[in-house]
Amino acid sequence: MIRTAQSKTLVSPQPRVSQSTLAAVVHVPMHIADASLTQETRETGVTPFAEPFLDWAKNISKQISKKPGFVCLKIDDEGYTNQELRCVYAAIARSLGSLNHRYGEFFDVKDRGLDHTKESVPVSKTRASTGFHTDSSAADYCPDVVGLLCLQQAHSGGESLLADGETLHDWIALYHPEALSVLTRPLYRDVITPGTNRDCSAIRKNAFPIFSRTENSFQFRYMRFWIETAYQKLGEPLPQGLRHAMNLIDSYLLDPNNTYCRMLTRGEILFLNNRRMCHSRTAFIDSPKQSQKRTLVRTWIDDLQEPIDSGALIKSSTKSSTTPNSPGNPDFDPALAS
Ligand SMILES: [Fe+2]
Repeated sequence: MIRTAQSKTLVSPQPRVSQSTLAAVVHVPMHIADASLTQETRETGVTPFAEPFLDWAKNISKQISKKPGFVCLKIDDEGYTNQELRCVYAAIARSLGSLNHRYGEFFDVKDRGLDHTKESVPVSKTRASTGFHTDSSAADYCPDVVGLLCLQQAHSGGESLLADGETLHDWIALYHPEALSVLTRPLYRDVITPGTNRDCSAIRKNAFPIFSRTENSFQFRYMRFWIETAYQKLGEPLPQGLRHAMNLIDSYLLDPNNTYCRMLTRGEILFLNNRRMCHSRTAFIDSPKQSQKRTLVRTWIDDLQEPIDSGALIKSSTKSSTTPNSPGNPDFDPALAS
């Protein structure tokens, strides 16, 4: 659902079941799950020090850093508890890079019973669609990888959607080159990090382009809602051509031929390259049973390891929460978590 600050228009992308995406699911080998669940791994919060584990993780890392820019893993149902699924997820995530801990290493994304159309709350705390976005609206921080573990899918809806920002960039360059100018210049983004200065001076310092491309690098950082609220708060009109350019982006992202769609089920993990891929989720309806509320566990991974040195001991970047249980920071508002 794309919510614009100007119109409050809500547009729901229609999900498409992609055969290619279905085929891309990678089953987590038993030796990876076993290594993740050893007592030592649980207690120390490190990646299992085992070459087969690291070799497997290196291949996963390549898929994320290069093509296709994401990977969907499946922990086969062995009667694992939620805590065991969290442990396997944590060990794999730690093998890919350093877990960001500014909001806690793991955050449960659930409907909090709020309505973003009636009050100013993050869409992630509702059951509405998030709209396509990349995570983090802070100029000084962009996670390399977003991870999502599904513990419970919704009663209906809640599909995960992905799109490749580099392909989108090439499409705009080919068919709408006039739009690239405004999309490659610094644009204000709203400041939403809890506990930080969120006034106009902070917003003016929080500017960066939607597309950043050099000969050797590419970065896509799109979050239409927070761009529009930033200019609203500053009392400034959007830069000339920006609304048209973002409409082009949204029209591209609304075409199911340009997106990947998957309904994550229990035990499935999605890792995506947050510097290249944007993501969304469709609106969903939860079961009335409290124990069956849609629950995804989100993590942000920095310094993507690729390749991982064989034999390296990859430690968590945090000194806390070695056992991934529940949110590290109950005050955290993951404004753009899916
Ligand atoms: Fe997100």
